[in-house]
Amino acid sequence: MAAPTEFKPIVVGFLCNWCCYGGADLAGVSRFQYPPQLRVIRLMCSGRVDLEFIFRAFARKADGVFIGGCHLNDCHYNPEGNYDALGNTLMAKRILEKIGVNPERLRLEWVSAGEGTRFAEVQTELSVKIKSLGPLGSSEGKAIPALQAGLEAATNLVPYIKLVERERLRVPQRTEDGYHKFFGSPEFNHLFEALILDKLAMSRIMGMLRANPVASGEIAASLNLDPEEAARHLHALAQKGMVRMSGSQVQLAVAAPEVERAAVNEVELAQ
Ligand code: FES
Repeated sequence: MAAPTEFKPIVVGFLCNWCCYGGADLAGVSRFQYPPQLRVIRLMCSGRVDLEFIFRAFARKADGVFIGGCHLNDCHYNPEGNYDALGNTLMAKRILEKIGVNPERLRLEWVSAGEGTRFAEVQTELSVKIKSLGPLGSSEGKAIPALQAGLEAATNLVPYIKLVERERLRVPQRTEDGYHKFFGSPEFNHLFEALILDKLAMSRIMGMLRANPVASGEIAASLNLDPEEAARHLHALAQKGMVRMSGSQVQLAVAAPEVERAAVNEVELAQ
């Protein structure tokens, strides 16, 4: 019998050019040993890592995503991009959790260009963590296509989420502690549920209907929604002219994906 093959995680790493990339380089030239899981994408600043990059990396079956930036208050850009990276990471973790991807697969760390040892240590820890979770989908108990559908729905929603962040989810205190407090606050939870989760559910419903009409009960079961909640979203989509219902069957009332995207992203921020 063939021996089971060892799981070798694939982690997409977004590294800021000025600090973390330098740390990785130093780890390399110093010949520090660490697991070779990282597929590096070099960016000028960790603040450039868009939510979309994170969702797309997981949709392409990355087992983990790593974001490495300069230490807070050391970013080379003004306003400091690494606070944006912190906000995006905290937001992405909340969304990943909702669509069934274990948020521990996403990690953000600050590593300076002189911290080669730290870079190697962080990568070793990350490797242990991802190996303990297993390949994408295993700790989640979900098939990859189901996760990809959720990730696609989240990706479609990114322009809307950015608008909500700008208009309604401004972090009051630009400190690390301030970010963690805000993202864990009842105020954030309320706005996240009211402004983002409903849209995410609608985006997922639209994605599900793209291939074929589906029974409304199946929508609720597949998306893990309460039947009443699913009915509320379907009613809202029908009112916008996005879906049509005949009996228990629901089907798309629009054809072009751009139209779906524009309508789901329609912003109602006045309330
Ligand atoms: Fe490194 Fe902004 S330049 S995080």
